[in-house]
Amino acid sequence: MSDKKELRVGLVGYGFMGRTHSNAFKRVGDFFPELKHKIVLKAVCARNEERVKEFAEQWGYESYETDWKALVARDDIDAIDICTPNNMHAEIAIAAAEAGKMVLCEKPLARTVEEAQPMVEAIEKAGVPNTVYYNYRRIPAVTLAKQFIDEGKLGKVFHYRANFLQDWTISPELPQGGEGLWRLDDKAAGSGVTGDLLAHCIDTAMWLNGGIKDVSAVTETFIKERIHTASGEKQKVGIDDACIFHCHFDNGSLGLFESTRYARGHKALYTFEINGEHASIKWNLHDLTRLEYFDHRNPSVERGWRSIHVTDGDQPYMDKWWVPGLSIGYEHSFVHQVADFLKSLDEGTSCSPTFREAQETQKVCEAVLKSASTMSWQDTGVQW
Ligand SMILES: NC(=O)c1ccc[n+]([C@@H]2O[C@H](COP(=O)([O-])OP(=O)(O)OC[C@H]3O[C@@H](n4cnc5c(N)ncnc54)[C@H](O)[C@@H]3O)[C@@H](O)[C@H]2O)c1
Repeated sequence: MSDKKELRVGLVGYGFMGRTHSNAFKRVGDFFPELKHKIVLKAVCARNEERVKEFAEQWGYESYETDWKALVARDDIDAIDICTPNNMHAEIAIAAAEAGKMVLCEKPLARTVEEAQPMVEAIEKAGVPNTVYYNYRRIPAVTLAKQFIDEGKLGKVFHYRANFLQDWTISPELPQGGEGLWRLDDKAAGSGVTGDLLAHCIDTAMWLNGGIKDVSAVTETFIKERIHTASGEKQKVGIDDACIFHCHFDNGSLGLFESTRYARGHKALYTFEINGEHASIKWNLHDLTRLEYFDHRNPSVERGWRSIHVTDGDQPYMDKWWVPGLSIGYEHSFVHQVADFLKSLDEGTSCSPTFREAQETQKVCEAVLKSASTMSWQDTGVQW
């Protein structure tokens, strides 16, 4: 019999993220056998009984609930994992923390800083382990970028540039609100590309390059009205379809960020490039196992961009997977995040980004939106 300590998980929401998290929960024990905790898929919760039952059977959850409050009230659950639309994060996280549960929450932490603040307070008052799924940090090539920066390979950083481009909302016929389309409804999502896509870019940027001090932004809503699925009526669209901002980092470097859902041809093109005194690095989600690296200290005759295939056992996380040269994918970033969460339980440490750290990303998002609406520079108030 296993002497591992059980971590009994209750998942809320079985959509896109419910699947990636369930996959991670199932895989983590096999690929990180050294962990002292093991996941038990205790229950999944969603409102449609037939579908949640089917999901529970398919993914191997022992039981299901149709009301998240009933899930949170169960004493056979240790951790609540939140995979619902953004407007549901706060209520569930606060109730879970007050019930003494650990909380793993999808990003963005909340719709606004004001909404996120009591979440951070509830988590810290309860003293429960917590993490927010800014999972891109745990793509091995991105983690390797962090190592390069921390080792000083880049020297002083001058520029940080990031894009997150999609093209799925161009049609004016697309309604807003409801299943699959809650991202277009500002009441459910909080914001458009800023909270959905730039939040990822901001988290990665601050993790790699430190705090963002102030921002100047423009946003645009290209389609001003869409039919709302709830009312069947045309309603004003309240989200930002596109956002561009520039900023100062605390370390003196300049940042330039762009995100849109109107870049025809791009499905999920997340890229970043960092230019330092000695070296530059760049990364792109469509080729996620590669880290591009240019080192000016190389002899001039052989200087050039190197494409590092991050698949070797001594590169981050890769000793857990196959043999050198064989790639892993998007889903593994979630396996890594769950593994790091379990490791933090083993070691009694915190698993970054915590709710408090995710709140700093929320502050940048809010400053970006305020800057755009007031056409002025905004301090972020970030403490990184
Ligand atoms: N980390 C990432 O890269 C990433 C990627 C996509 C989405 N997300 C985040 O994950 C969250 C979910 O996004 P998604 O793409 O999985 O959405 P989705 O629409 O695919 O799934 C949402 C799920 O929440 C359920 N739900 C909604 N209200 C509920 C309620 N009151 N009680 C129980 N269940 C409820 C829905 O039934 C659905 O199963 C969002 O916060 C989003 O920003 C993160």
